[in-house]
Amino acid sequence: MALIPETADKLVRSGVSVMVERGAGDRAFYADDAYTKAGATIAADARDLYAKSDLVLHARRPTPDVLSTLREAIVIIAPLQPLSNPDVVRRLAERRVTAFSTDAIPRIARAQALDVLSSMASIAGYAAALTAARSLPKFFPLLMTAAGTLTPARVFVIGAGVAGLQAIATSRRLGAVVEAFDTRPVVKEQVQSLGATFVEAALGVAETEDKGGYAKELSEDAHRRELELVASRAREADVVITTALIPGKRAPVLITADTVRAMRPGSVIVDLAGEQGGNCELSRPGETVVEHGVTIHAPLDLVSTMAVHASQMLSRNHAAFLQLLIKEGALNLNFEDEIIREACITHEGKIVNERVRAVVEGGPT
Ligand code: NAI
Repeated sequence: MALIPETADKLVRSGVSVMVERGAGDRAFYADDAYTKAGATIAADARDLYAKSDLVLHARRPTPDVLSTLREAIVIIAPLQPLSNPDVVRRLAERRVTAFSTDAIPRIARAQALDVLSSMASIAGYAAALTAARSLPKFFPLLMTAAGTLTPARVFVIGAGVAGLQAIATSRRLGAVVEAFDTRPVVKEQVQSLGATFVEAALGVAETEDKGGYAKELSEDAHRRELELVASRAREADVVITTALIPGKRAPVLITADTVRAMRPGSVIVDLAGEQGGNCELSRPGETVVEHGVTIHAPLDLVSTMAVHASQMLSRNHAAFLQLLIKEGALNLNFEDEIIREACITHEGKIVNERVRAVVEGGPT
């Protein structure tokens, strides 16, 4: 849910009128009543809400139906993933919508309170570790029992960004022995500080990180070396959790069918890159499959399994963003502000984010 009652209450007190679509919070256990008590009004349906609002907060990318109801100059905030959804971007520009994408908010210190990507990624990382623990037919911790000593599970995490680090932390809390790999060597200390081992690799690449701190796509040669490294670590692991993403591109395939075949039967893979095509060759996004005795999960919506805290985090991120966009109860879009400028994808009929424009118009990224 994009806004919880507690945040709605704060917004109402600051002079903003808040409207909530009927039943929108139900599945996250935030009832219409709680919004009414917070001073919000309940819209009969989405159409009513879009007709009466100046700004609409979304927990998800708007559907084609919603896109066709958006009126000119309305402001929307949503996780648009504009680099992977050029059609949505074109549509928003055509309809002259001012669209902010929460995944385009720059990862700078001042924007930390707005960082929806980090909020959702940490939930996904936590839930991925629990999914793995639940489907592994072994304990995660070392156990000394009257029936003998049980060795701890070995977890290998690929990609140590926000989701990967949370998967490492959660697996460690459950007592597993964890190792992790990322093409960005800067994460080594963070991995080690969580009690995991950072797997060193000579990929033969000097620059693996772009200006925004995101990973760059690897050359063919470096990718081949990484596949060998992953194969060697996966063979030793009970669980592999993969989180490797490159903004705007298909996720790199890092676990081949051969690697799965070489893993121990009963092992588990949790592939968090399903939405971008998956990090495992045998993943089926949105499904759980068993291949060569290995259970492969590629969940698409782990965040919804944690709907209460996911909504709380999202709501607070939205409130922090609204603080930049609303002055004395009225919209005030200051494009001099780096956060507002970079997060804005379309405005007044134009695609205003340069990187997105290049992708939508077919140019280089
Ligand atoms: P992401 O979700 O785009 O990617 C996940 C991880 O996969 C990254 O760590 C990336 O390096 C890794 N990866 C990509 N290709 C790989 C490959 N072939 N093999 C292994 N790993 C691979 O990343 P996320 O979590 O969104 O973080 C991106 C950056 O933003 C990081 O540098 C992070 O530290 C930074 N950040 C900064 C914040 C701030 O200052 N406000 C807040 C959150 C993140």
